[in-house]
Amino acid sequence: MKVLVTGGLGFIGSHTVVELQNEGFEVIIIDNLSNSSEEVLVGIENISGKKPVFEKMDLREKNAVISFFEKHNDINGVIHFAASKAVGESVENPLLYYENNINTLVYVLQELQKKDDASFIFSSSCTVYGQAEKMPITEDAPVQMAMSPYGNTKQIGEEIITEVAKVSNIKSILLRYFNPIGAHPTAEIGELPIGVPQNLVPFITQTGMGLRQQLAVYGDDYPTPDGTAVRDYIHVVDLAKAHVVALKRLLENKNIDKVETFNLGTGTGSSVLEVIHAFEKVSNQKLNYKIVGRREGDITSAYANTDKANEVLGWKAQSTLEESLASAWKWEQKIRA
Ligand code: UD1
Repeated sequence: MKVLVTGGLGFIGSHTVVELQNEGFEVIIIDNLSNSSEEVLVGIENISGKKPVFEKMDLREKNAVISFFEKHNDINGVIHFAASKAVGESVENPLLYYENNINTLVYVLQELQKKDDASFIFSSSCTVYGQAEKMPITEDAPVQMAMSPYGNTKQIGEEIITEVAKVSNIKSILLRYFNPIGAHPTAEIGELPIGVPQNLVPFITQTGMGLRQQLAVYGDDYPTPDGTAVRDYIHVVDLAKAHVVALKRLLENKNIDKVETFNLGTGTGSSVLEVIHAFEKVSNQKLNYKIVGRREGDITSAYANTDKANEVLGWKAQSTLEESLASAWKWEQKIRA
């Protein structure tokens, strides 16, 4: 079975390619290398013993997308990661985000719509819930007004897919990720943020390595047990495995609806201070941090109710926060060695 993974050299994409290959899928990667590198292919091969087919391509080029699907006319399964994901950058340059995240989605769906049968997995985000009223968050919690163009592209993407499903043979699963962290336990692949990391865990590991002097903790006056904001940090390998399960569900026609939505998290919320302390434990060192003011646009708390994914997909996150952080730390040490 041949699967196209767009953005397959990125953080979540590369881990998913490994799990797909481990399950015997033949993988073709499209990536424009805007936030990744061809060296990731080596890491993937070292883990799974197989180099996936790679086409360097920009999905914003509609004609290239058309030619690709003409050439590879036996692809029925697509996992679509290719997108930009920096919230701040999306506020600075909204059109870049609409072009990167929406145009590319439309072009891929246009090609899938020509088929008699197609299975499509979409990378969505818990950001669609905004600050949900009830914790843990279930899939039927209302989608709230997006706080950034990035968040809006995820909401619009979900809407486009839902509308297209009504008039086509495309079956889709929308996966709403909570906070993906960590790296492959072999440290062959992991997260490679360009410049100063905006996300908590890469900032922590870089601070642990001495690349950053100090972590700023954005606010300790939130209405949470220790005052710092709470998130659901999920190991990227657990997340990757969920994609394989979801894809198989569609390919085997086990889905109940044309479009299904699942939260992917651990179900456990951790505060920023809890993450710091867990990191200190696994790295056996103190982390230099200081409490500063809140970051604009941040919510207080978000963690998943994972019952639907557990029961319907038969998938459950396995790694603990400490295991996830240990893998992130191992990776950080390897790439700086
Ligand atoms: C962020 C995005 C979210 C996106 C996700 C993708 C924002 C506001 N949200 O989620 O839309 O889907 O990344 O990965 O950017 N923190 C610190 N110090 C830091 C960095 C983070 O205290 O240097 C805190 C944040 O305030 C937050 C928590 O750590 O409470 C997690 O932050 P982060 O890793 O950026 O993820 P989110 O903000 O949850």
